Amino acid sequence: MKIAVLPGDGIGPEIIEQAMRVVDALRGAGLDIETEQASIGGAGYDQHGDPLPASTLELAKAADAVMLGAVGGRQYDALEREKRPEQGLLRIRKELGLFANLRPAIVYKELAHASSLKPELVNDLDVMILRELTGDIYFGQPRGQRKTDTGEREGFDTMKYSESEIFRIAHVAFGIARKRSRKLCSVDKANVLDTSILWREVVSDVAKEYSDVELTHMYVDNAAMQLVRAPKQFDVILTGNMFGDILSDEASMLTGSIGMLPSASFDAGNKGLYEPIHGSAPDIAGQNLANPLATILSMAMMMRYTFNLEEVARQIETAVSAVLGQGLRTPDIFEPGMRKVGTVEMGDAIVAAL
Ligand code: IPM
Ligand code: MG
Repeated sequence: MKIAVLPGDGIGPEIIEQAMRVVDALRGAGLDIETEQASIGGAGYDQHGDPLPASTLELAKAADAVMLGAVGGRQYDALEREKRPEQGLLRIRKELGLFANLRPAIVYKELAHASSLKPELVNDLDVMILRELTGDIYFGQPRGQRKTDTGEREGFDTMKYSESEIFRIAHVAFGIARKRSRKLCSVDKANVLDTSILWREVVSDVAKEYSDVELTHMYVDNAAMQLVRAPKQFDVILTGNMFGDILSDEASMLTGSIGMLPSASFDAGNKGLYEPIHGSAPDIAGQNLANPLATILSMAMMMRYTFNLEEVARQIETAVSAVLGQGLRTPDIFEPGMRKVGTVEMGDAIVAAL
């Protein structure tokens, strides 16, 4: 198993370090895992003048799977868009063709009280958000700034989806729904956007091949509201790139902390990039405060989806539950009565539990 490891910026390196200790433990148990690190984001810019250095892309292409920390930092805010850390992330997604982004929002029973919603609304919550990741307004051309006839500046972006892009993500969504409770909710803004009208048409067409899955459609504003009103009505949510970005952050908070949620992104051949859904949190970087669990759980997803090692994935997830059960909490999920620990101590406990 060849894993390309891209720590990135901010808390990226410290959370990746803990995930690498999990890899070491797996090696100790006999798994043949090779890892190689490379820079991305601001770190890529600092080292090679490019947020996605050619050598990093090459390594990622050659690997079986990619593990990524996080990108971004205030010191890069003034750079032109092409050089900004976020471009490294967007380009690697695009270059590797990672169009299908799985973002599960799962509530650990130990953390139900850390949710910003009442525990009874979120107990046992298990929602899978499937976000399209290589299209939409994130990548649509033309985009930029221009002068209008009256001489003022105007910024513009292009939202678009082709039929084939919608078709392939819809198939992934129905496939996932089939393995879960066979309920799929497609989220769009078809009351306003032409892109969404096509989205709805194509998803409805694909649905004909999956008569065992119940498909519903919801406008994104309503979905945002329903997620905080009654999140358990959802099982699998399918949506485009920008709506998925927003709804997955919202869903993460239902689970108690964005620091708990892993994600996986796949190309057409099931090659995966795994990353926590949170950002680089520069405000807490380097202080042993970050929660490494989302990254460790991303490693579990890698074992499950890329390497087909369901048992190993479960062992990592069980170790996470066990450590939460012991009362260990990083600051983001801390509650009185629990034991507050740092990034490294959380890693120690996971390795011990494993
Ligand atoms: C995410 C992030 C990225 C995105 C940023 C960092 C470019 O918010 O992975 O959700 O918008 O996709
Ligand atoms: Mg986001």
